[in-house]
This record gives sequence, structure tokens and C-alpha cells, in this order.
Amino acid sequence: MYTSIKTLAAAIVLPLVAALPLSQRDEAAVFDSSKPFTLHTEVPPGGAGPFNPHPFNSQYLTAFHVGAGQSTIVATKNDSVVIGWTLSDSILQQPIALNGAPAGFAYNLSLVEQGPFRSDAPSGYDYVSLGATGEATTGFHFKGRKLVWSGSNSTTAPESFDGRFALCRVNGTAPYFSLGPQFQLLWRTDDVPSNSSRCADVHLIGDNVA
Ligand SMILES: *[C@@H]1O[C@H](CO)[C@@H](O)[C@H](O)[C@H]1NC(C)=O
Ligand SMILES: *[C@@H]1O[C@H](CO)[C@@H](O)[C@H](O)[C@H]1NC(C)=O
Ligand SMILES: *[C@@H]1O[C@H](CO)[C@@H](O)[C@H](O)[C@H]1NC(C)=O
Ligand SMILES: *[C@@H]1O[C@H](CO)[C@@H](O)[C@H](O)[C@H]1NC(C)=O
Ligand SMILES: *[C@@H]1O[C@H](CO)[C@@H](O)[C@H](O)[C@H]1NC(C)=O
Repeated sequence: MYTSIKTLAAAIVLPLVAALPLSQRDEAAVFDSSKPFTLHTEVPPGGAGPFNPHPFNSQYLTAFHVGAGQSTIVATKNDSVVIGWTLSDSILQQPIALNGAPAGFAYNLSLVEQGPFRSDAPSGYDYVSLGATGEATTGFHFKGRKLVWSGSNSTTAPESFDGRFALCRVNGTAPYFSLGPQFQLLWRTDDVPSNSSRCADVHLIGDNVA
């Protein structure tokens, strides 16, 4: 199933392309988090966010290359660039194939306690990194198809993370103009008001890669 790894030279870190168009997947199938999956956003009722949550809903996560061995997470409705994820010891990973990389090499999702310096995201929303460096954030698991996070299961999350993600409309800033305008996944800090109308709270929903 995972032979269809596409090499997109510059733009994106080797996305794992889902085998079936998103529209053809069986929504009713039982989700199995021990198998590879895609993640998409769902704006929960009553979450902080803009008046019209529609543009922030049903967006699929993909990696966006911002530096050597370093990506951030952005959202797309283009299913040919959606990435596949795995969950390993409560860490979200993107398995990738790199020249010379050992078997099993994967980028880890890492929540970084700093502003997203590669975009103009509002304060209170911090940087999500996917890359060859950075401490992997532990504590993720699934309740049904919904990704959840538990502080008591995590030793490496930033102190001000309480499991909340948001999708924000951002523009890239120098020298990362290629980042924007687009939707960037960020984590909400609990010590600054994170209530910008450019962002919507999102849950992340898994679908197994068919
Ligand atoms: C989707 O992404 C692929 C690969 O980057 C690109 O060739 C295609 O033009 C994109 N489609 C749309 C509708 O943007
Ligand atoms: C991902 O995290 C695991 C567990 O902390 C670690 O063993 C591995 O080296 C990390 N991988 C990368 C590419 O940093
Ligand atoms: C910790 O993670 C496990 C799965 O690895 C999950 O079943 C359990 O509910 C989690 N604990 C809490 C408090 O969420
Ligand atoms: C992004 O840049 C465009 C074009 O310069 C501008 O119209 C838009 O308002 C900017 N969006 C944000 C969220 O700053
Ligand atoms: C966010 O909260 C701060 C502090 O409570 C408030 O001053 C600001 O107006 C709020 N912004 C929005 C967009 O609701």
C-alpha cells in the first residue's frame, strides 16, 4: 500500500499519498489507529473562532517544507498532497523515505513553545513542527476517530498545551513568503487569549488510508 510515495522536489516533504481519493473512502469503516491514517479538521460547535467556520472544516493536513529537514503543517483540500500519519508510542509520525535514511525513519510531530516565526499567525497560537529535529510530543491517542491528548500520558508537551489545536489563516513572512496565504495548523496556548477571528478551534479526525 505504501509504495506510492511521491517525490515532490521542492515544495513538500515527500508526502505519502493516500491510495484512494478521499471522496471514495468508506466513512463507515472502523478506524484503526495502529494502521496509517490521514487527519482532517472538524470545527467543534461552540469553539473559539470566526463567525463562519466553514472554510476551516474538512481540511486535510499536509506537510509544508520550510527549511532543511523541517516542515510545518498546513491544510489542503487537494487530496493528491495529503500526507499519511502513524501513531507510535503516543507520538504522531509521518513516515517518509529519504535517501540514506534508515528503515523506519519518520518525522515526529513536535509542539514548540514559540510563535510561528514562519507566518504572521496571531499571538497565542504556537508553532507545530514536523522534522528531523525537535523533541517529539507524546500523549496522543484516539477516541474513536478523534485525536485526543492526555497530559498524564505526556512527558514532553509544552506546559501551556492542553490538547487544543487551531487552524489559522496566515501569510508567510520573510523569507517564507511561499507559505502564504494559506491555512496553518497551530496549537493553542492556555496562557494567552487565543481567540483570533483568523483562527478556528479544530478537532483532528483520522481516516485510515485505504
Ligand atoms: C494538487 O496538487 C498537485 C500536486 O502538487 C498539483 O499538481 C495539482 O495541480 C493540485 N490541484 C489543484 C486543484 O490545486
Ligand atoms: C522520533 O521520536 C522518537 C521517540 O522519541 C525518537 O526515538 C526518534 O529518534 C525521533 N525521530 C526523529 C527523526 O527525530
Ligand atoms: C493514555 O493513553 C492510552 C492509550 O495509549 C489511553 O487508552 C488512555 O485513555 C490515556 N489516558 C488518559 C488519561 O487519557
Ligand atoms: C495575506 O495577504 C493578502 C495579500 O497581501 C492580504 O489580502 C490578506 O489580508 C493577508 N491575510 C492575512 C490573514 O493577513
Ligand atoms: C480576545 O481576548 C482579548 C482579551 O480578553 C480581548 O481583548 C480581544 O478583544 C479578544 N479578541 C477577539 C477577536 O475576540
